[in-house]
Amino acid sequence: MRHIMRGLNSNRRWFMKKALAAVGGATATASLLAADDDNRNGKLNKGDAAMLRFAAAAEILESDFWIQYNELGGIQDSEVPGGAGIAAYIAALQKLDGDFPQYIHDNTDDEITHFTFLNAYLMSKGAAPANLDAFRTLQGSTATGVNTARIGRRLTNLTQLTVDTSWWTRYRSSANNPDLDPGFVFPQAVPGLFSGQFTAIPRTDADLGPPDHLQAIANTAGFHMPTIEQGGNSLYPSMAQRASSVEVLRILISIGPTETMHFQTWSDKAGNAPPLTDPTNGLVFPDLNSPPFGGETYQTNLIMPEPCPFLSRNLPVCSIIRPTETKGVAMGVVKFLTAMGLFIGQPPAFFELLKDLAAEADAAKRNGDGGDD
Ligand SMILES: [Fe+2]
Repeated sequence: MRHIMRGLNSNRRWFMKKALAAVGGATATASLLAADDDNRNGKLNKGDAAMLRFAAAAEILESDFWIQYNELGGIQDSEVPGGAGIAAYIAALQKLDGDFPQYIHDNTDDEITHFTFLNAYLMSKGAAPANLDAFRTLQGSTATGVNTARIGRRLTNLTQLTVDTSWWTRYRSSANNPDLDPGFVFPQAVPGLFSGQFTAIPRTDADLGPPDHLQAIANTAGFHMPTIEQGGNSLYPSMAQRASSVEVLRILISIGPTETMHFQTWSDKAGNAPPLTDPTNGLVFPDLNSPPFGGETYQTNLIMPEPCPFLSRNLPVCSIIRPTETKGVAMGVVKFLTAMGLFIGQPPAFFELLKDLAAEADAAKRNGDGGDD
């Protein structure tokens, strides 16, 4: 409705409100008035700006590691330039899906546009963008095929990951929802990935063999990707509940579902990871279709969310994104990514900045009177 209203003079605006009230009732009038308030102000309140700024920071971090994946395992082109690929790594990724390089490319492209748009929107409203450039100092891969100009200039570390694969069973549980059962421990799909540090990309050319080692690296990537994307898939609807501006709400609920599209795609691919043991470190990728795994909790071709309790167990189960608890969600994301090892090598100032961005986002209140940003 807002874009229709823009540019109309106040008399016509008043007329439109009356006309909408006649056809749409009081609710339409109220939402139109709220939208008008946003227009009159032309600025974001502190909370809205902080939530978008935190989202932009998260997208910058995502873009940084997706670019690393794309350089070695994706498609290098004008949309996502840099790197030359590693044929053996790409072949291992393609054991999970022949289209894997294309999906890496497109996911990378999406994340770059997310932070670019969010920062541009913030600046268009006179608010500060997110900027993590001072922390582009991590080594990254030095394998042949990497973008050599970026060696030593990474924000994120894909070489020492501890991957929490519990989303696999969380989305298959019909009895438990993390929002209703915060203490419930959802079992890991790949317990080994959650107890150690593993690389998801070849660190050097020495990682290209033996074959089961390289496949384990590709499998690690295959599970890391949905682990990351399920986080974004929860972050956006969680924050959206506290948006004050209808336009900020629109941004959050328009970006969020693309993270969900990523998550479901990657969860499908993870199910194709070949069962094996990495001969160099003992990391086991189990056969998820056989005992002690198997059944609805692990079966690899289940990629839709199982309906689960939502809001109250007095209500019927519902197929939903989970969790979507809004309180403390940004700090939760920082803790999750930190525990994953994604920032190993970053200095304390990096974590302070991330925590500040998260604390400000978590302080946002719907229609809160936080003042202009
Ligand atoms: Fe994103």
